[in-house]
Parts: sequence; C-alpha cells; structure tokens
Amino acid sequence: MTKGEQLYEGKAKKVFSTEDPELLIVSYKDDATAFNGLKKGTIQGKGVINNRMSNMLMKYLETKGIPTHYVEELNDRDTVVKKVSIVPLEVIVRNIAAGSFSKHYGVEEGVVFESPTVEFSYKNDDLGDPLLNTYHALALGLATEEEIKLIEKYAFGVNEILSDLWRKCGVILVDFKLEFGRLSDGTIVLADEISPDTCRLWDSETKEKLDKDRFRRDLGGVEEAYNEIMSRLEENMK
Ligand code: TMP
Repeated sequence: MTKGEQLYEGKAKKVFSTEDPELLIVSYKDDATAFNGLKKGTIQGKGVINNRMSNMLMKYLETKGIPTHYVEELNDRDTVVKKVSIVPLEVIVRNIAAGSFSKHYGVEEGVVFESPTVEFSYKNDDLGDPLLNTYHALALGLATEEEIKLIEKYAFGVNEILSDLWRKCGVILVDFKLEFGRLSDGTIVLADEISPDTCRLWDSETKEKLDKDRFRRDLGGVEEAYNEIMSRLEENMK
C-alpha cells in the first residue's frame, strides 16, 4: 500500500489516498493544538506514540466486538484505515468530572460520577464544536436515530473495555472523545484516533496527568507523559 495524493491536512494528522478507493493512509504529525487551534505547539514524538497507541487500542477493541476503521500499521507514523464519511459528532464519554464538564457545571475536577455520561458536540471548528443533544443532531440531519443509539452503545462499550485495560496499567480513564464514520455500505465504525490527545489519563495513585492536558495547561513534562503512558500500555499488552 502506497501513499497517493494528500486529501486533507488536519491539526494532528494528514490523510492520503491509496490505490484502493476504499482505503486511506493516515499520517500522524507531532503538531499539537488546543482551544480550537488558538494554542499551537509541537510535542516531539507524539505522532509516533499516537499512531502506535491508537492502533493497539483499536485492534484490542475489535477483539471485543467494536468495529473500527483500522486496517494495518505501515510504519511509525502511517496507518491504513478504511475510508469512512465521518459522522460530524464528537462523542465524549466521562467517568470523572474534568475539563469543560467541571467548567460548565461547577463541579470540582476529580469528582467521580455514579455512572458514566455521554455527550455530543457538533464537529464544526467555525462554530467552536458546540454541545448538542440527540434532538439537535436529528434536526441538523447529522445522523439517524438508529445511528445515534448504536454510537452510544459503542461509546459506553469502549469505555468499559478501555477503563479495564487502563486500570491494569495503573491508569484511570477519566474521559475521552471518539469519532465514528460510515463505510460505503453505511456500516458505523469507530474512526479517528484514541490517544493521549483524545483521552484524559491519570496515574491511579498520584492522579498525575499523563495526557494532553499537560500541553493545554502548560504543566511541563509533556513528552515524558506521552512516553510514560505508552510504555505502561506496551508493558501490559505484551
Ligand atoms: P473537554 O473536557 O475539554 O470537553 O474534553 C473532553 C475529552 O475530549 C478530553 O478527554 C479531551 C478530548 N478532546 C478532544 O479529543 N478534542 C477536543 O478538541 C477537545 C476539546 C477535547
């Protein structure tokens, strides 16, 4: 499989065509942004870690019955994925209050929920990815009711599977963002990436942040955190 023309460049990844119209190659960059692109920087080696971690997690999820876009890792930064049309919803699952949840609802970071929550944002940078509910998503024609039900089922499934996996690594899965896509036949699959860019991951003992919040909040030790979280996962998945 070889890279064809570049179809798209996002904040953290590039997407290329391949000789197969149903397959694409994603290429992970070290670029990092936050606050809808207002804050820009580089996290050395992030692309390599996010590529490898996302692939490991997607492969694992497939074994547990969650369909994903993953096909094959080509090298450190490049992966073959199934071509999807992205459902323009950011699907956020939370186990513990943090980030925008803490801000919106006045709940201290670290408060553990009785049961996990799911929320949707409209994936639209010009509008700043506004929060929306199922009725808004239906009114805007972003997905069907059946698709949204399935997406919620998969999202909570991913939460159970990955919370257990991270627990074994001495890590708490605080929250995360997923994106889903439709294959050409309409099948919904998990797409985009699962990485320290898209998850909050805290050390179980010290509650130290081992994710992109170190970059967002200028906490320092960003590369070290990405390396640490990757080596914990690799140690546990050997
Ligand atoms: P939030 O608390 O800022 O809404 O973030 C919730 C989760 O979603 C957190 O794990 C980080 C992730 N996330 C992304 O992957 N992309 C984004 O653009 C934002 C804002 C959050």
